Amino acid sequence: MDSILPEGLVAEALPTHVAFIMDGNGRWAKKRVMNRVTGHEKGARSVRQVLETATQLGIPYLTLYAFSTENWQRPKKEVDALMGLLTRFLKNEKANLVKNGVRLHAIGELDRLPKDVKKTLLATMEETREGDRITLTLALSYGSRSEMVEAIRAISEKVASGEVSPSAIDEALVSQSLQTRGIPDPDLVVRTSGEMRLSNFLLWQSAYSEIFFTDTLWPDFSEEEFYSILREFQGRERRFGKVLEP
Ligand code: FPP
Repeated sequence: MDSILPEGLVAEALPTHVAFIMDGNGRWAKKRVMNRVTGHEKGARSVRQVLETATQLGIPYLTLYAFSTENWQRPKKEVDALMGLLTRFLKNEKANLVKNGVRLHAIGELDRLPKDVKKTLLATMEETREGDRITLTLALSYGSRSEMVEAIRAISEKVASGEVSPSAIDEALVSQSLQTRGIPDPDLVVRTSGEMRLSNFLLWQSAYSEIFFTDTLWPDFSEEEFYSILREFQGRERRFGKVLEP
C-alpha cells in the first residue's frame, strides 16, 4: 500500500487519531427490508474500507466503537450475530492486518465478551503486535463512564496505599489510568447516521476533538466521504481554548 494523498489534503495537517462512532447499520437494513444483521455485515465492509484508507494516508491511530456496554441489552440473536461477525472479521483479516502493518488493540470490558471471541481477539492482538503503520483500537463492550470509574478506583487504591498523594493527581495521571493510555487523544471524532451525541464514547479523551456528524449510514460510508471530512477538518482552526496569534 503506497501512500497516495488525494487532492486538497495536506500530509502535515492530517489528524494523528481518528475515531468513529459507526452508527446506522440497523436503519440501513430496515430501508431495504433486510434484517439488522445484514446491516452489520455491510458495516464490516465499511470497517475494512476505513482502515485501508487511514493506513494508506498514514494516519497512525484509528479507533472504532464496535460494541457499547449498552449494546448487551439488544436481542440475544443480534448480540450473538455481532460477536460472530467480529470473530470472523478477526480471523479473515489477520493476514491482511499483519501484511499492512496494523497493530490491533482493544478497549472495553473485555471479560464480558464470550470466551471464544476474547480468545480470538487476544490472539490477533498478539499476532499483530509488531504492526508499525497504524494502531486499530476496537472499543468492545466499551463505555466511557465505566472506564472512568475503573480509573478512579485504580487511583484511589494508589492513594490508599500511599503510592500517590491526592495532590499529585493531575490530568496526566487520569489519562494514564484510562484504557487508552499510550494512545493520543482523538483529533477527530466522526459519527454516522445523523445522531448528534457521543453515546458514552471517549468522553475524557475527546475534550478537544473536532466532532463531525454525517447523515450517511455506516454501511454507506465511503472513502470519498472520509476524504471530504478530512478536508473540512484541515480547514478548521483548533484553538484548544486559546486565542491564536494573528
Ligand atoms: C450501530 O448501528 C452499530 C453497531 C452497534 C455495531 C457496529 C458493528 C459493525 C460496524 C460491524 C462489525 C465490526 C467490526 C469491527 C468488524 P445500529 O445497529 O445501532 O444501527 P441503528 O441505529 O440504525 O439501529
